[in-house]
Amino acid sequence: MRLDKYLSEMGAGTRSELKKAVRAGRVTVNGVKVRDAAIHVEKDDEICMDGERVAYEQFVYYLMNKPAGVISATEDTRDRTVLDLLDGQQRKGLFPVGRLDRDTEGLLLITNDGELAHRLLSPKNHVDKVYFARLDGPVGETERRLFAEGLRVDETLTAMPARLDVLEPANEVKVTIREGKFHQIKRMFAAVGREVLYLKRLSMGPLVLDGSLAPGTYRRLTEEEESAIISL
Ligand code: URA
Repeated sequence: MRLDKYLSEMGAGTRSELKKAVRAGRVTVNGVKVRDAAIHVEKDDEICMDGERVAYEQFVYYLMNKPAGVISATEDTRDRTVLDLLDGQQRKGLFPVGRLDRDTEGLLLITNDGELAHRLLSPKNHVDKVYFARLDGPVGETERRLFAEGLRVDETLTAMPARLDVLEPANEVKVTIREGKFHQIKRMFAAVGREVLYLKRLSMGPLVLDGSLAPGTYRRLTEEEESAIISL
């Protein structure tokens, strides 16, 4: 593929920025400075910009701590989306894996790997999603049992068995589910007469939100995290 296309696909800048960078002599291919952004390169060529290797990676994975007030979508005409929180050099084809409501915070995986997204979201694959919720009142053993049995939420949804851990105080809970239906957690609590006042996703399979990621920030997955989700 063309050199500028390669670099822009790897998130090194926009096509026009990259054309300028190449013309300015900032890019080398296999150790040789090039000035033409249209030259053909291969995925295993050693391409460097400003002396730093820009290796070919087909897929990228980001772990974000989604803040409240942004939409889990790739674009929206009115509101900011989670992709707007990525820096300007973002790659094409990125999307959030599953949706968190606008007011929900917490762990969100952003990738361009469609097959992996499908595997993570399919209830058949039993990938646990753990949420912390603060409710408008306490819950206890009755709700724990109802959730464990597979709660009938309404005419359209009977939830798969879910784990409810009641914390201290008893209006704070951890819920573990394996599916991700529209407003699932809020609807499950509504079905037992409780309102969710605050909701945050803590983990998704092997991915855990670490305390160092402030809301609205993100990082690349570590190698261990990446291989853990790829082998799911
Ligand atoms: N369940 C909900 O109700 N909302 C979310 O954002 C995620 C799960």
